[in-house]
Amino acid sequence: MFIAAARARKLILRNLEAIGYEPDEAAWRSIRMGVKRDLQAHRLRPNVPIPSRRNPVRYLKAMFRETGSIYDTLVSFLHDGTWTSSGGSFRLAEQLGFDLVHEANRRLQADGTLRYLEVGGGWAGLKSPASGSSRDIAGLAKHFERDLGQSVFLHFTNLTQWHADLPKGIFEHPYVTAAGLPVLDTQGIPPGTVGILYSQAAAYFETDVKSFLAAAAALLCPGGLLIFNLRPEYVGLVSDCAGTGGLTMRKSCDLGGMNGVVVAFEKQPSLKKGRAAVVDMTGMKSLRAKQYPAEKGRPYASNQR
Ligand SMILES: C[S@@+](CC[C@H](N)C(=O)[O-])C[C@H]1O[C@@H](n2cnc3c(N)ncnc32)[C@H](O)[C@@H]1O
Repeated sequence: MFIAAARARKLILRNLEAIGYEPDEAAWRSIRMGVKRDLQAHRLRPNVPIPSRRNPVRYLKAMFRETGSIYDTLVSFLHDGTWTSSGGSFRLAEQLGFDLVHEANRRLQADGTLRYLEVGGGWAGLKSPASGSSRDIAGLAKHFERDLGQSVFLHFTNLTQWHADLPKGIFEHPYVTAAGLPVLDTQGIPPGTVGILYSQAAAYFETDVKSFLAAAAALLCPGGLLIFNLRPEYVGLVSDCAGTGGLTMRKSCDLGGMNGVVVAFEKQPSLKKGRAAVVDMTGMKSLRAKQYPAEKGRPYASNQR
C-alpha cells in the first residue's frame, strides 16, 4: 500500500509538472488523502455500504467481511479512516434533472460524435455485475455499444489506476487531478472536444476550484455540458470564475451534507474573441439566498465519513 501510494503520488506530480502546475499545500494534502482512499477502495466491492466508524462493532465487522484481513480492518479503523468503494453513477446529475444517457444521445445525433469525460469515475460501473442498464459509464457503454471507439468515446480520470483493461472506446486516465486536467491534451483529449464533462464526488475534493473550472471550460466543445458537485464554500468562487471560461450556469441545487452543491454549466456555443461571456448568475444568486433541504437517507457514497 505504501509503495503503491508513493508511486501514484510520483505519477500525479509528473502529470502536473508536464503542464507546469504546482499544487499548493492544501491541494497536495487532499490529493495524498485521495490516493490513500483510492487504494483502500480498490479492495472493496463497488458501493458496498460500510457503517460509520462511530459504530465500531458494525464498522469492524463490515471491513473484515470485505477485506478478509484483520490487519487491513484495524489499520482502516485506527489510521486510514474513511474507506470508499465508489461504483460511479449519474445520481447527482439526475438530482439536478439531467438524464445523461439522453444528453449523450442528443449530442451524438446533433454532432455525429460524442466524447464523454468523467473526473474521478472510480469503477465507473464497470465492475458491477448489473452494469448493463445502469446509469453510469458502463450503462453508456452498453447503450452505445455499436458506436464505441467509432463515434463515441468514453473517458474517465482517477487519482490511481482502478482498471487493468477496458473495452474498446473506453479510456481510463489515471494519476490525473481535477486542476491537472490540461494534461489530457497529451492523452488523446484535445481542448474543445468534450461534449459532456461530469464529476460526482471527485472534483469535490479539488481545492483549486478555479484551475479545475478553467481546465473543464477549455476541454468542453461549444455547447458542452459540465455537471459537478462542490463544497458550498466554493460556490461564490465558481460563480465568479465561470464567465472567463465562457460557461453559463444552467441549474444548481444545494443537496446538503456530503453531496454539497450540484451545478450544471453550459459552454457557450461561440465566444467573441477578447470579450468575457455574460454569465447567467440567477441560479447562483438564488442558491446563496435559499438553502435547499438536505437530501434524506444515505449520501451517495455512504462510506465517506
Ligand atoms: C468518492 S470517489 C467517487 C467515484 C465516483 N465518481 C462515484 O460517484 O462513485 C472519489 C474519486 O475522486 C477521485 N479524486 C479524489 N480527489 C481528486 C482530485 N483532487 N481531483 C480529481 N479526482 C479526484 C478519486 O480518484 C476517485 O476516483
